[in-house]
Amino acid sequence: MEKVYIFDTTLRDGEQAPGFSMTSEEKLQMALQLARLGVDVLEAGFAAASKGDYEAVKLIAQEVKGPVICSLARALEKDIDLAAEALAPAERKRIHTFIATSEIHMRYKLRMSPQDVLERAKRAVSYARRYTDDVEFSCEDATRSQREFLYRVIEEAIKAGATVINIPDTVGYSVPEEFAQLIEDIRNNVPNIDKVIISVHCHDDLGLAVANSLMAVKHGARQVECTINGIGERAGNAALEEVVMALKVRKDFFGDLYTSINTKEIYKTSRLLCRITGSFVQPNKAIVGDNAFSHESGIHQHGVLSNPLTYEIMNPEDVGFPSSRIILGKHSGRHALKKKLQQMGIEVSEAELERIFEKFKELADKKKEIYDEDLEALVYEEVMKL
Ligand code: KIV
Ligand code: ZN
Repeated sequence: MEKVYIFDTTLRDGEQAPGFSMTSEEKLQMALQLARLGVDVLEAGFAAASKGDYEAVKLIAQEVKGPVICSLARALEKDIDLAAEALAPAERKRIHTFIATSEIHMRYKLRMSPQDVLERAKRAVSYARRYTDDVEFSCEDATRSQREFLYRVIEEAIKAGATVINIPDTVGYSVPEEFAQLIEDIRNNVPNIDKVIISVHCHDDLGLAVANSLMAVKHGARQVECTINGIGERAGNAALEEVVMALKVRKDFFGDLYTSINTKEIYKTSRLLCRITGSFVQPNKAIVGDNAFSHESGIHQHGVLSNPLTYEIMNPEDVGFPSSRIILGKHSGRHALKKKLQQMGIEVSEAELERIFEKFKELADKKKEIYDEDLEALVYEEVMKL
């Protein structure tokens, strides 16, 4: 059995997307849940990006045990110093440094020559190694980079001490077969590549982030960078829940690979992110959408009642999805409310339940049916905001 490491970047790439920014406290709440979910690496932020990001990385480094805590840093000494400072309290830490390697990024964004980019990458990795022996290096826009140059930068980053080499499809341009071939080619052309972990980081501009990540795994990548609900820059990143469940459900295709994710925590984690950001996933979202395990048509309902496997390729309980949908209205009591909250992954004290129940009754008098989103808003008002 070989492990595929799950690197969660919900709190860095995910949080960078419009409408998804979080306070340090909210990030901490999310980070604690990501640790319960079992992510291997938790990218807590980009310490040099802002004071708030620095504080959030530091807070998570202090409070969250289990995953390796990571901060992003440009290939600049001042960024790496700030990342290291913020990560200092962590039990296990990683510095993730990056620089763009594509012609278009080097010319128009960095205004640097390829030779200077190569030198900067080497210097950044060896500088980061002064702080930790766990250093990840990313070639930003790898999929649009000139091949020989890409191999060269990776080779030098490994020589300088990188332990993980990340291949981002920064603009979500690649397609699965091509991305798989890129991973194969890197494995066949870069000296000592077998001494490091190959990671992939795919964006979803063409809706291919998960497919690209999975094909990369099939061809030797052993770390996947992903986010809860697939949030991230523009169209987002590969969705963690989809990558993990595809590897689990399709072992026949992917072989004896495993992740350390406790899949029963997936739904809870997805809902927590929705509550914190106020942004909900579409009903048909794979794995965590409201309709992911719903059956509406008579033929499907009949099939599922006879044998769930007729129309369900995984068990809803395996991802912590509530199996029976309790409908709440003005006649519902405390017991049903408590059960419903538990199904939604929300644990509250008796005193909190009382407060939520009171508000719930007020709302139920005004609305026919209380939806999960209504309840989540109540919990947020009555419990999380305190
Ligand atoms: O998309 C990207 O290239 C990134 C890197 C910083 C890893 O987010
Ligand atoms: Zn990214």
